[in-house]
Amino acid sequence: MTHNFSWAAAASLVAAGFWVASLGAAQNSSASAPGDSGEVLYAKNCAVCHGAGARGGDRAPGLANSRGLRSQSEDQIAAVIRTGIPGRMPPFELPDSELKTLAAWVRSLNISAFDAKPDGDPSAGEQFFFGTGQCASCHMVAGRGKANGPDLSDTGRSLTLGELQHALDDPAGAAKIRSSSACPPWAWCPQNKWALVNVHLRNGSTLRGFARNQGKHDLQLQTLDGRLHLLEEREYDQVSREKASLMPPLKATAEERRALIAYLSRLGGAAGGPLTSEPDPISADAIQQVLNPKPGEWPTYNGILSGNRHSGLEQINVQNATRLQLQWSYSLPSSELQTTPVVSDGVMYVSAPDQVCALDSRAGREIWCYTRPSDTASPSGAQGVGAGGGSPNRGLALLGDRVFLTTSDAHLVCLNGLTGGVMWDVNMPDSPGRYSGRVAPLVVGDIVVAGHEGGDGPLRGFLAAYKATTGQLVWRFWTIPRPGEPASETWRGKALETGGGATWLTGSYDSETGLLYWAIGNPFPPTDGSEREGDNLYTDSVVALDAKSGKLRWHYQFTPHDLHDWDAQEPLVLVNTRFNGRDRKLLIQANRNGFFYVLDRTNGELLLAKPFVKRLTWASGVGPGGRPQLLEGNTPTSEGVRTCPAVRGATNWYSSAFNPATRLFYVMTVEDCNIYKQTGRGIYTPFQDPANPPEKYLRAIDIETGKIVWEIPQVGAPEANYSGVLSTAGGLVFYGETGGGFAAVAAKTGRTLWHFEAGQAWKASPMTYMTSGKQYVAIASGNQILSFALPER
Ligand code: HEC
Ligand code: HEC
Repeated sequence: MTHNFSWAAAASLVAAGFWVASLGAAQNSSASAPGDSGEVLYAKNCAVCHGAGARGGDRAPGLANSRGLRSQSEDQIAAVIRTGIPGRMPPFELPDSELKTLAAWVRSLNISAFDAKPDGDPSAGEQFFFGTGQCASCHMVAGRGKANGPDLSDTGRSLTLGELQHALDDPAGAAKIRSSSACPPWAWCPQNKWALVNVHLRNGSTLRGFARNQGKHDLQLQTLDGRLHLLEEREYDQVSREKASLMPPLKATAEERRALIAYLSRLGGAAGGPLTSEPDPISADAIQQVLNPKPGEWPTYNGILSGNRHSGLEQINVQNATRLQLQWSYSLPSSELQTTPVVSDGVMYVSAPDQVCALDSRAGREIWCYTRPSDTASPSGAQGVGAGGGSPNRGLALLGDRVFLTTSDAHLVCLNGLTGGVMWDVNMPDSPGRYSGRVAPLVVGDIVVAGHEGGDGPLRGFLAAYKATTGQLVWRFWTIPRPGEPASETWRGKALETGGGATWLTGSYDSETGLLYWAIGNPFPPTDGSEREGDNLYTDSVVALDAKSGKLRWHYQFTPHDLHDWDAQEPLVLVNTRFNGRDRKLLIQANRNGFFYVLDRTNGELLLAKPFVKRLTWASGVGPGGRPQLLEGNTPTSEGVRTCPAVRGATNWYSSAFNPATRLFYVMTVEDCNIYKQTGRGIYTPFQDPANPPEKYLRAIDIETGKIVWEIPQVGAPEANYSGVLSTAGGLVFYGETGGGFAAVAAKTGRTLWHFEAGQAWKASPMTYMTSGKQYVAIASGNQILSFALPER
């Protein structure tokens, strides 16, 4: 909160000695009788600034019905009173009992409707809400209802009883109070995201709806049919605000009203697991938009489900890429964004840990942001870990009006794309372990598939699929078998129970075969194989699952019995193309272990495995049966052994791409080795090899031979750069340079055509989209999203 006027007023009070005088009064025991009530203590000490009845004055904001104070405990309020607010509010040295009384009184003015628990029959209130009250024709609660007004899923927690009653009886008045504390009545403010406006367009027509956001040069208008119109200033000339709210004042009997308020007060956020009632099914059109997106849409982590980060857009191309310019940037609180934005119908959705923001993809302006409360309870016993440090988030999945996010405590959350309201929130793990989440989910038909991370600790990995409508579990595939199950014979020793195998990178889907391909992480313990003799399936493998049932169809293990932490979590790129003279359905992956693989994705047959780095010492090649031919002396010891690639791999999770025109595969690669030291169960320490510092390259690989056709050596510290690549039909490859620039290179030759200096240690991969006929290229850079396009002539 910032109130510049009260800042100035408080400062002038200090200057006038008034502050001290009022404090003196507060400490003068004759003025303060023991046993004074909170109200009396307030009047003596605080009313001078915070106004009579704590309703606010010109020197300080009100303390009653304050959304900011709603979430604060009595102790937190007492702490503010005791320590004051530098430059704004003096500290108060009150006796403990008075401090407590005062804090309790302030807290009582802000107690949420949820905590107040008013009497009444909530289920009758729910019936009224969805029935005769017609509230659901504008509001959504836990995914039910419409989005012509704020989502009310947590309205009990966000409003006091007084505010709730006011909102029902006098919607316009309540909205006015909400915005007036921070916002003049004529202006747009985040508090009036649901204010009704009429927008006169320059083409003569008028649009009526909610100004979800507005700046000097653009306006994000949600019309009452649930559509977003992303307007630029040249498209409209007049915006006028309506005085009334769209919401009609409540008409109900006394009994209905009591029941309704009881119901609304109990709405404390939708974190209760899957929905029990089935909403409307996902439309066939929405499903098609993900399976075969329209040109310029990017509804999924890699743009398309095949995992090939190659776009058909060609407005930005080899001829004009030198003219690219930054169009806008948008900041999120997270400092190291790993998100790939997704875009549908002109709206861009970006993620940070436990946060999603919807943006106007043309203007870069925020439409809404959702932040998940960190103490959201998990209803089931098994629980993911709250990241604490905020494990980064890689991105989102879209389906119709739904947005899906995995959270740092391994929940899967479904948000409404218009309001940002929570439709459902489910806890994914159902067994013990330090599960956490960051993977962008994958939508396949009307299910959403998500995995987890945490495989460097003891847990049993899984991949899970949920109904997009309700969050109900459809299937779960365990990446580590139970004793006695098929593949359990590949584990000899005690490690099987919690053998790792996390699923932290978005997989790929092929609608032709109906197969879902997912890469599996390293076994646990990572570098100590003594309690897990054998191949340790399905770690470091690709698994091909029937998308409908989650049943395993085939698997291929890149690194059997891994001792070097080489998760197979590199993109699985599905392409249909000619290969050695035959049209084939391929699955291509440049693996962390240093080999470039081409498989037949219908059956897992290995077609090619060639090193794509020179520094590769653990295997001499991959034999005809698909097994690596191991070289001696690569088992980590207590003294340490030198093995290449390094633990971070010859490549990693960042995106790769195949361009059908150049027939080249583009991937960021690292030439590096580590001294792998065995230091006990679960603990491994890779050390840099001082004699051979790492080198990073952008490489273009011929998929039929595995030969490197061109490469761009990088300048700078390789381990800092986790940018992937984007390939486009414009004949370009975009990527983040190790030196900090964002660059476009000619896909055919590897000649750098354009770069933008961003000073970034990249942690995210680029994407491209088209809005209103204009192509943009976007990438997360530090705490910002940057979007580039060609200038208009
Ligand atoms: C000299 C004026 C002044 C006096 C006297 C004063 N305050 Fe404040 N107080 C402020 C200002 C100004 C702010 C707002 C600071 C900001 O928004 O950054 C504030 C903020 C607060 C907040 C935090 C509000 C929030 O939304 O987080 C609390 C709680 C508070 N005051 C309680 C009290 C109490 C209780 C008293 C009496 C013991 C008191 N104040 C006396 C000026 C005053
Ligand atoms: C025609 C659409 C419409 C209908 C019907 C409607 N509302 Fe609203 N409601 C809104 C809009 C729009 C707002 C936001 C008001 C504003 O900012 O002007 C709102 C605001 C609210 C708020 C305040 C939310 C907040 O966070 O401040 C509550 C509570 C609420 N409505 C409850 C109800 C209930 C209960 C019903 C049924 C009796 C209902 N509404 C019927 C459109 C509607």
